[in-house]
Amino acid sequence: MVIAAELTRRAVSKLRPRDREGLPVAPGWLPGVGHTAAMMVDLPWVCAEGDQRSPLFWLQMGPKSWVIASVREEAFAVFRNRETSSAHLARDAEVLVGRSVLGVDGEAHRRMRGAINAPFTPKGLGAHKAGALMAEVIVPRVSRWKSRDEIAICDETREFAVDVIFRMMGIEPHALAEWRQAFERYSLALLPVQWDFAGSPYRRGSTAKRWIDERLTAIADRERGRDPEASLVSAMVNGRDDEGRGLDARELLDNLRVLVFAGHETTASTMAWAMLYLAKDRERWDRLVDEALAADGPPTTPEALAKFAFAEGVFREALRLHPPVAFDSRQTEQPWSLFDRTFDKGQIVGLSLHAMSRNAERYPDPDAFVPERWLSRERRPGPIETAQFGGGPHFCLGYHVAWLEAVLFLVAVAREFGAQRRRPRIVGDAMPRPIYMPLQRPPGSARLRFER
Ligand code: HEM
Repeated sequence: MVIAAELTRRAVSKLRPRDREGLPVAPGWLPGVGHTAAMMVDLPWVCAEGDQRSPLFWLQMGPKSWVIASVREEAFAVFRNRETSSAHLARDAEVLVGRSVLGVDGEAHRRMRGAINAPFTPKGLGAHKAGALMAEVIVPRVSRWKSRDEIAICDETREFAVDVIFRMMGIEPHALAEWRQAFERYSLALLPVQWDFAGSPYRRGSTAKRWIDERLTAIADRERGRDPEASLVSAMVNGRDDEGRGLDARELLDNLRVLVFAGHETTASTMAWAMLYLAKDRERWDRLVDEALAADGPPTTPEALAKFAFAEGVFREALRLHPPVAFDSRQTEQPWSLFDRTFDKGQIVGLSLHAMSRNAERYPDPDAFVPERWLSRERRPGPIETAQFGGGPHFCLGYHVAWLEAVLFLVAVAREFGAQRRRPRIVGDAMPRPIYMPLQRPPGSARLRFER
């Protein structure tokens, strides 16, 4: 067995292209899938090995797409989107991205962000009472954990996160389960094989998309002409940029659907990691409980976050250690240079947000969970420190949503169990190994117990 494995490894390593157009190819390459499988299992290793050979190295993502990648902070410049774009996202994930902010650039992107930014700012979130909706979803469910032996933490946080977005979109509590199922079916349309016949995953996904779109259109029609501050959807339907331009009907639907995809697994993963680290760290858990119990309740407005500096530190540290978007990319639209190399138009350039978040020069003891590193700072985190949310014009639209939701969640858990002198413990004790792709998250098997 061992000999067969070694022979296979040698055969594969002979197959592996070592160089391509003068740059090294990272190890972990397999015929057919390129680096995708290795990156899913151990993205940090693939990138660190690539970086050891050169600050720019090749990765093959899937059967066709070759990406020039870097883990260095200089590569962050790719997010500026002057010479680069997100056109590859719109092309490769058309069903998901469509005409949403994620996949358009330049003037169209400025118009859309200008029209829909307001409800995602701290002021906008306060105006449409997003925090109250979050609390309505999260607090009673956390309270129900008290009667349960074990908590499958990823399933729980995923359900909170998706329901929070649905509630913000005006979906009534009794319909949440039906919407969750519809979105799960819609995800089938995103699979790479898109054969369209009765019963095929693609057909089922497309049918679910029609179901979702009919209902989103009805919600949008209801909100047309209303006060833009009244709700998230009203703000997106009636919002205008500085030149009075808004979104057309298709752009509105594509953006509403994207909110669900962009906003739930990402936030859910961060909340789950934060709980797993707290379960390994009695001192930090106690500190969070002290902060949470000293307040009247969990924060429900962005201003109220000021009282929860330690919980914010836990959120930022969980994100830094495990950025859900571990690897991001852009496409060059004209010749563009990095590390003395000029790429032609059409080249995909990738950067590891994971590696950037563990840069030892910026974060001493980079692999340790140290929420205190975010406290007593003289300024708010800068662009590199929030790189887990991307950068430049496509910087995450939901940054303030995720921050409020994650802190509200952590404070709710700490108040519920801290008051009973119970603390989280990981079932099996070992910190679970991350899954890195398509989004970085703990495995579904990760479980917590709350013990006295
Ligand atoms: C911890 C939570 C989150 C993380 C780590 C995260 C991360 C990111 C990243 C890395 C990008 C840039 C993608 C790119 O341009 O390549 C992004 C964009 C985006 N995010 Fe988030 N996100 C989070 C939560 C949310 C939430 C809660 C929402 C919505 C309520 C949201 C909505 C969006 C949207 C719409 C974009 C596209 C913005 C644009 O292209 O102009 N995200 N996010």
